[in-house]
Amino acid sequence: MARLDRRGGEAYRGPMSRFPPIQDARALFDLPREAAYLNAAYVGPMPKAAIAAGRVSYERRARPWEMSVKDDFFGTVERVRALGAGLFGGRAEDVALVPSASYGLAVAAANIPLAPGREILVLDGQFPSNVFIWRRVAERDGAVLRTVRRQPGESWTEALSAAIGPRTGLLACPAVHWVDGGRIDLAALRPALRDAGAALVLDLTQSLGAMAFDAASVDPDFAVAACYKWLLGPYQTGLLHVAERHHGGRPLEENWIARRGSSDFARLIDYADDYEPGARRFDMGERSGFQTLPALIASLELMTGYGAEAIAARAGALAAGLAEAAAPYGLTPATPDRADHYLALALPGDAPGDLLERLKTSGVHLSRRGDSLRVSPHIYNDEADIARFADALKAAFA
Ligand SMILES: Cc1ncc(COP(=O)(O)O)c(C=O)c1O
Repeated sequence: MARLDRRGGEAYRGPMSRFPPIQDARALFDLPREAAYLNAAYVGPMPKAAIAAGRVSYERRARPWEMSVKDDFFGTVERVRALGAGLFGGRAEDVALVPSASYGLAVAAANIPLAPGREILVLDGQFPSNVFIWRRVAERDGAVLRTVRRQPGESWTEALSAAIGPRTGLLACPAVHWVDGGRIDLAALRPALRDAGAALVLDLTQSLGAMAFDAASVDPDFAVAACYKWLLGPYQTGLLHVAERHHGGRPLEENWIARRGSSDFARLIDYADDYEPGARRFDMGERSGFQTLPALIASLELMTGYGAEAIAARAGALAAGLAEAAAPYGLTPATPDRADHYLALALPGDAPGDLLERLKTSGVHLSRRGDSLRVSPHIYNDEADIARFADALKAAFA
């Protein structure tokens, strides 16, 4: 068994040395051969190393006297920040720990005031965590929430490009649409947003780690990702990237640990006025997460160990194979510009109403969102899963 360090994470033995070639990554997961799990967009399976780390960290909670303020309250969290920086292509200083995408979006909303009449652009069918909060902001500021629709054959980038104009105050969107898998070319849209003086808030839950992201070129005001899907981490963990221009902003909570000098527990009632530097002020309460963070670290080390480019290439190759297997049944990609790792297949009119259940009976696990079958492979999938998918479709459409 892998040696565990005191945080419960696997001891680090140099870049990539502990990971097999990416096509053999299934060995890092506890997935039975008879399950073709093609649903990372729903919930990612945690890797064995993360489960082991979680076990250790829970067992340590039986002996609180063995905890260390330096490591358990302050060290682990900084390791997560550093790994988060690698995923966003930014700096650890810019990363805050949040419990969910909605929390990160609420932080963004609290720090982006809009002038009356300015438009907030969201995509048609966007995930609700990234819609409800902007309804609230529109009400708060007298702004106008505008839903951008794309025509058949049009990409989201084209539709957004046509919608951005002088009235745009904010674009709140993902990098990949969670229903149709459409990719949004954020770097291409940024200059028009800048010209309009508009802010950019991103929900990267369906892409971070599985598709390269570069905070320097996209320059989001806030970008958040929940970690329990593609990032393979525990539920209730999330990463928020905050642009430096917002580092003086207002956190949702006035948490004691986000204040400067909080590591000196004897002096907490000096009630320091200033915060820890960078984005740390936006950390959620109880951010130190000594039960969950060691597992998250193991998951993020795996993700950053392979890197988003390699993961996108591998998931992309698998998605291409799955798309090919689905084509004979009239299941076709739902968007002209889909992300490599994210396959949404428009359901044909003659698809069985209980298609998902039929596939499940054959050991194939995926989701339906809107009128699309959502197939989301990750590094633990392999060619045998594609074959199982092909066989399951054949049986389901028989
Ligand atoms: C695009 C997207 N964002 C966010 C979430 C999760 O949101 P939250 O962390 O607010 O529960 C999901 C879950 O399906 C999602 O698909």
